Amino acid sequence: MILIKLGGSVITDKSRYKTFNKEQVSRLCSEIVQSGRGTIIVHGAGSYGHVIAKRYSLQKGLVDFSQIPAVAQVQYDVRELNALVVKTLLENGIPAVSVPPGSCFVMENGKLIVKDNEAIRALAHMGVMPILFGDVVMDRSKGFGICSGDQIMEVLTDIFKPERVVFVSDVDGLYTADPKTNPDAEIIETVTPEVLKSVHSSSTVDDVTGGVVGKMLSMLEACDENRDCVLVNGTVPGRLLSLLKGEEVPCTIARR
Ligand code: IPE
Repeated sequence: MILIKLGGSVITDKSRYKTFNKEQVSRLCSEIVQSGRGTIIVHGAGSYGHVIAKRYSLQKGLVDFSQIPAVAQVQYDVRELNALVVKTLLENGIPAVSVPPGSCFVMENGKLIVKDNEAIRALAHMGVMPILFGDVVMDRSKGFGICSGDQIMEVLTDIFKPERVVFVSDVDGLYTADPKTNPDAEIIETVTPEVLKSVHSSSTVDDVTGGVVGKMLSMLEACDENRDCVLVNGTVPGRLLSLLKGEEVPCTIARR
């Protein structure tokens, strides 16, 4: 089984509040179906989550009660996005159901706690794909917090022990500098904890969950000697399909 996160940068336009990239999501779903591989899909929040979460500093937890309407709004918005993703999966023949983290789980000082995963396992066992996503989740110590799709990937990796973990983003991989602003940036094919320390990263869009370095840390967490963890560009048609078929494509692989 392959665990895939469709990042917010591919399923939405991250710079414009609530802009769903329907065609791109549909194409990625069809690439996943064409690959014939068993998968579980997680998705990010993109502009359905980050824009308002950043405006109200939701990643800091409860600071003052003026944030509360934003907690409800972001939860609403990411459910709207999730419904669009699930609908697209259904249209592509993937029987998917929504499992909203903020309604099922809690966090403890920013760390997602999934004590009871019976429903998620039962769904997958039945051939129904549980779809989890980046969400606002109640936090025992901070009141609430932002749970990223990357954290959910870590939890699902523990539950399902996938052979491969794939992060689909809008860049070819990790670069020595920001490729969107620096033409000399070079792709790093293999990232280790040592390599990551030497990489200076800045995100070109507003992101409350750590940008590409945060993603690499999650990837390093998820990989081991039997499990590849890959960052691949989903905006290039056919690239995800090639990767899933085992072909060589431009990407960054995490190794510990
Ligand atoms: C963020 O999730 C969740 C919210 C802001 C509510 P992610 O961090 O997984 O989203 P992307 O992939 O970066 O957009």
